Amino acid sequence: MAHSIARATLGLTQPTKIDPPKISFSAKDVDLVEWKGDILAVGVTEKDLVRDENSKFKNSLLQKLDSKLQGLLSEASAEEEFTGKTGQSTVLRLPGLGAKRVVLIGLGSGASATSAYRSLGEATAAAAKSARASNVAITLASTEGILAELKLTSASAIASGAVLGSFDDIRFKSESKLATLKSVDIIGLGTGPEIEKKLKYAGDVCSGIILGKQLVNAPANVLTPGVLAAEAEKIASEYSDVLSAKILNVEQCIELKMGSYLGVAAASTNPPHFIHLCYKPPSGEVKNKLALVGKGLTFDSGGYNIKTGPGCSIELMKVDMGGAAAVLGAAKALGQIKPAGVEVHFIVAACENMISGTGMRPGDIITASNGKTIEVNNTDAEGRLTLADALVYACNQGVEKIVDLATLTGACVVALGPSIAGVFTPSDELAKEVVGASEAGGEKLWRMPLEESYWESMKSGVADMVNTGGRQGGSITAALFLKQFVDEKVQWMHIDMAGPVYSDKKKGATGFGISTLVEWVLKNSS
Ligand code: BES
Ligand code: MN
Ligand code: ZN
Repeated sequence: MAHSIARATLGLTQPTKIDPPKISFSAKDVDLVEWKGDILAVGVTEKDLVRDENSKFKNSLLQKLDSKLQGLLSEASAEEEFTGKTGQSTVLRLPGLGAKRVVLIGLGSGASATSAYRSLGEATAAAAKSARASNVAITLASTEGILAELKLTSASAIASGAVLGSFDDIRFKSESKLATLKSVDIIGLGTGPEIEKKLKYAGDVCSGIILGKQLVNAPANVLTPGVLAAEAEKIASEYSDVLSAKILNVEQCIELKMGSYLGVAAASTNPPHFIHLCYKPPSGEVKNKLALVGKGLTFDSGGYNIKTGPGCSIELMKVDMGGAAAVLGAAKALGQIKPAGVEVHFIVAACENMISGTGMRPGDIITASNGKTIEVNNTDAEGRLTLADALVYACNQGVEKIVDLATLTGACVVALGPSIAGVFTPSDELAKEVVGASEAGGEKLWRMPLEESYWESMKSGVADMVNTGGRQGGSITAALFLKQFVDEKVQWMHIDMAGPVYSDKKKGATGFGISTLVEWVLKNSS
């Protein structure tokens, strides 16, 4: 026991408790010239910057601002060579407006993509950060052409960008500045209960994404399987009107015959925790039962097939619970949104893949909870072993559809690169549902084949299967392995998110999967 306490505080690191940014949003319809605050941000397309023969803006909103500023806006934006290209922005400190600063932010060619509006929110947050601003207004130079439905989604994308752009994970820095942004007015995209509801929804999803990022960013000496389970319980108790939690310990997992999951956990001093949260709507009949299953390896050393050599990224393997983070982030968001008519099970078989005398050896044969036997020809293909028992458990909850998310294979990263997740499912219907949800959520998924003939490489001479095929088609054989543990009556999809879980460029977690999962659950609500 003393030993495990020492482990839990290894390195004496404790995250600083910092409340995530609390930003209030409101949709307003006010005169921009009159708006009072720190920053007025205007999203501008290349087309909006077209000028007439007297080099005055043709766009009426820019024209109005410019005349109030006696032509300074036009002059300054020309001097700064601001052309409205995506990613371009220019901060102007001009007297004569209610706002202290005007920031022009490029939206590119004007395609009304969700991602362009999210970037507008992020760029505004960045400007607020450097100006230490606390209140901003965001608007678009031209809103006339935008359909009502699109105005709602643009407003929510802008709001999400502003929240996520204001979030910096500084829990493990000894000194850092907190974000200053407190309020965002979204102007010109409508007012009233419908848009307010959409903005609240965006805020709820963002709080889930921020939690997901924090879970992935937390190092494995801080975020052990036990701590992950405690975090899950915390979510359930925060939204206890709709969420309940059940955490199974080793004995209970033995009872359920989860030999595959327990095999992976066997080397670790930090014991495994099997996490099961359940969402039930506040009232009314349940029409759809769903399960979200996430891979929850708080660290993956590879086991005896230890990750060695350049590019193996062993130092990054705290991210191997990215699937679990997506599932728990979605639970937090749904706990606030409270959709009707749908029951959702959130399932994570959390553990570490370590090395010790009690650990699983290459060549060992283990038995999963559905009775199938597995010859472990590679201890580094551990995620699928934990998911096997988690999927059997999910099927036993009587759900109609399961989506699992996992940082499962390097092969998927080779195939699709760092920002696209691979999806595998025998069901065209489920593929359509989830891919549709991902488009609304602004995440990139690509369907991959479940080529049955590749199962050949997963055959064992002594057990029902091995856990690793050859190098070729590695993400496909991994998905075929998972399929062995799913009831044929259940619609199932596997998402391999080893690429998009983490951004090398931003040196941090992305929160991938959460917006798609929440959208998908809402599609199944009534
Ligand atoms: N956790 C890794 C996959 C991974 C790779 C996650 C890169 C995040 C970034 C997984 O457990 C693993 O080790 N997969 C092996 C499978 C192989 C042994 C069949 C891999 O991809 O090399
Ligand atoms: Mn591994
Ligand atoms: Zn792994």
